[in-house]
Amino acid sequence: LDRIAYFDNAATTFPKPDEVYVFMDKFYRECGVNVGRGQHKLASKASSLVLETRTLLLDLFHCQNRKVVFTHTATEALNIILQGLSLKDDFNVYLSPFEHNAVTRVISHLGDTKKLNALTLAFNKADYKYDLEKIRYQFIDKKPNLVIISHASNVCGAVAPIREICELSKRYGAINVVDMCQTAGLIDTDLSSIDIDFSVFAGHKTLYGPLGIAGFICGDGVKLDPLMYGGTGIDSASQSLPETFPERYEVASPNIAAISGLNAALKWIQALGIDNIYQVEKRNHQRLVQTLRQYKNIKIISPDESENSIGVVSCLFDGYSSDNIGQVFSEQDIAVRTGLHCAPYAHKFLGTFPSGTVRFSVGYFNTSRDFEVLNDALVYIYENS
Ligand SMILES: Cc1ncc(COP(=O)(O)O)c(C=O)c1O
Repeated sequence: LDRIAYFDNAATTFPKPDEVYVFMDKFYRECGVNVGRGQHKLASKASSLVLETRTLLLDLFHCQNRKVVFTHTATEALNIILQGLSLKDDFNVYLSPFEHNAVTRVISHLGDTKKLNALTLAFNKADYKYDLEKIRYQFIDKKPNLVIISHASNVCGAVAPIREICELSKRYGAINVVDMCQTAGLIDTDLSSIDIDFSVFAGHKTLYGPLGIAGFICGDGVKLDPLMYGGTGIDSASQSLPETFPERYEVASPNIAAISGLNAALKWIQALGIDNIYQVEKRNHQRLVQTLRQYKNIKIISPDESENSIGVVSCLFDGYSSDNIGQVFSEQDIAVRTGLHCAPYAHKFLGTFPSGTVRFSVGYFNTSRDFEVLNDALVYIYENS
C-alpha cells in the first residue's frame, strides 16, 4: 500500500513512533509472558515494565501522588468509573456538549434504573468557548453531583477549561471525570490536584501507543464498586476481590504487548518533550485550516486554530454528503472520518445531526506531502461541485 495521507489521527494516531514498533517486537519476543502470575524471572521482568509504565504516566501528568488503573480501552475505563460510582436517584449529572458514546451510552444505561438529571455545561457556540459565568449559575441553580468533561472534543477540537470547571464543581462536592482521550500526551496537564477525581486516557490516541491499552488516573478520594470480577494474580484463595489498588479494578491478564508499546511511547514523549510535540501538532493544525479555508464550498465547524483547540477539524462540503466526500477522499488515498464520530450529542449541539461532518485530524507525523495530496483532492472536489 502506498503511503496514505492520514488525517484520521483522532480515531487513532498513525503511524506510531518507530521506537514503539521496535520495542514492542523486542519485548514480546523476549518477555511476552503473563504479569503477576509467576515468580520466574520473565514474569518479574514483565511486572517491572508495567510498574515503570505506571510511573512514566504519573510523571507525564505531574502526579506521583495518584494511581493508575490499566484497562484495555478507554471505553472500559469509563464504564468502570461511571458504573462503579453508585449514582443515586435525582443526581445532577453535568456533561460537556461533546461527550462520546463511551460516556453517554453508559449514562443512558444507568438512567434506565435511576432517575438521573442530565444537564449540559454551558458552552458558547459563537466562539466555541465554555461559558464559565453561566456554569457558575448552573451549579448554583442545580448543585452538581457528577461532572463529565471531554478535555477536547473529538468532533470539533474545542478544549475545555477543566481546571476551572472542576474547581467550581468541587465546591459542591461533585465527582469530576475528565475524558482525556484526545489530549493525554498532547496538552501538558497537571493532574495532582484533587479536583479531578478520574482522568481517562487511551494509549492509542495522543499518547502514540498501540491499541489495547488505556486506563484512568485517580486518587483515593472516591471509591468505586468493581465492575468485573475475576483473577488478579493475588489473594487467589478468596472469592472476594482484593481490596488493594489497582488489583481490585485490574482483573484478568493485562495486555503486556500493548503496555510495552505504551512504555516506549511515553519514553518517546519524554525525550521529545510534550511541548515540542504540541508545537508540531499546532503547526499541522494551522496548515490544515489554511488549506481548508481556501475553498468557498467548505464550511468549518470548529474553533479558529489560534483559539483553544486541538487539530481536530469538522467540515461540511456544499452539495456533498459527508459519506460521499469520504468516498472521494478514499479513492485519492486520503484517510478522513465521516459521519457522527460516535458522538451524536455533539452533532445535535453543533447542528450537524444526523448526517454528521467530514472530520480531519492531524498528528505529529503529518508531512508536507500529506497536505499537498489533500489540497489536490480539495481542488478536484471544488471543481466538481
Ligand atoms: C473523546 C473520546 N472518548 C472516548 C473514546 C473511546 O475510545 P476507545 O474506543 O479507544 O475506547 C474516544 C474514541 O474515539 C474519544 O475520542
